[in-house]
Amino acid sequence: MAMEYTTLGSTDLKISRIGLGTWQFSEAWGVTRYEDAKAIIAKAIEVGINFFDTAMVYGRGMSEEFLGRALRELGVKRDEVVIATKIPGEFLHPDDVPRAVERSLRRLGVESVDLMQIHWPPCWHNFPTCGYMRALERLVELGKIDYLGLSDYPVELAEAARYCLARHDIEVIQVRYNLVERAAEEAHLPYAEENNFTLLAWSPLAKGAILGKYTLEDVQKIEDLRSRDPLFHPDNYKQLLGFAAKLREVAEKYGKTPAQVALNWLITASSVVVPIPGAKRPEQVEDNAGAVGWRLRYEDWRLLDEESKKLRITYVTW
Ligand SMILES: NC(=O)c1ccc[n+]([C@@H]2O[C@H](COP(=O)([O-])OP(=O)(O)OC[C@H]3O[C@@H](n4cnc5c(N)ncnc54)[C@H](OP(=O)(O)O)[C@@H]3O)[C@@H](O)[C@H]2O)c1
Repeated sequence: MAMEYTTLGSTDLKISRIGLGTWQFSEAWGVTRYEDAKAIIAKAIEVGINFFDTAMVYGRGMSEEFLGRALRELGVKRDEVVIATKIPGEFLHPDDVPRAVERSLRRLGVESVDLMQIHWPPCWHNFPTCGYMRALERLVELGKIDYLGLSDYPVELAEAARYCLARHDIEVIQVRYNLVERAAEEAHLPYAEENNFTLLAWSPLAKGAILGKYTLEDVQKIEDLRSRDPLFHPDNYKQLLGFAAKLREVAEKYGKTPAQVALNWLITASSVVVPIPGAKRPEQVEDNAGAVGWRLRYEDWRLLDEESKKLRITYVTW
């Protein structure tokens, strides 16, 4: 199935409708061998994915390094891909912003980055919003950053951040959004739609928790970051197994995989949504790329909508 493309926010930058998340290239997820990461990136390029989401904190630079190196070694031209990275809230002192961005560019091995997102607001440091927003905007003026985005920002704070910008607007908001964690629909999705921002959906597969691939017993044995993720807590996971069965039924009807249906549900929900699933193996990238080129029918979209609304996910797990 051919890849679909859209544009980033209100720019004319072409991005694939499914991106590749690269948090997996870190100890947190376990893809720490460069060759494994390269194979995943090579497959993404092969299936038409041109949008890559990384962050300074993923593996403390490992993900950025792997991504930049793999793209170079694979002979991908700079203008054939869109690289999105993120600066964490802790690096947002106005004097630190250029230093952090320079290091990020060095790790990626690029002159400028297409999209710089603030990974999360500076919760612990109280850096005034306009100080860091103007520092980032200066780097746009200086040609080191093409576009700006905000990740994990409440809409009210996103508004405050945009108010600080003089000549440029943000093009992207990035939030947690998947079939069973839908808080983004309250405020972020309409905000993105009204303003023509791309809404990058993180954990679009709920970290695999909705795919029914792990039994309740197996899930207790997972040792990566998911051992602390509330979705994998038995109180939630038991319910998700029931949801996964519905997802599988729909998938079988279309001759698709549960992951493809879960991602298709998101892109069918709104034209501004671009999911960025992570992958541990090239086959997963290929599978996820097959989420486009077709659409769920209205009744099946609604069925999953209703089923997910029956769930009672709790984040209070201890
Ligand atoms: N801005 C933020 O705060 C933030 C937060 C989290 C993530 N992100 C970004 O979003 C990206 C994706 O989120 P995520 O990594 O949390 O979760 P995700 O994309 O929902 O799940 C990824 C995991 O699901 C499994 N998987 C992927 N494709 C599959 C397929 N086709 N079939 C079966 N299993 C499959 C793999 O794990 P197993 O094979 O081990 O099951 C993979 O590691 C990250 O890489 C990162 O770029 C951003």
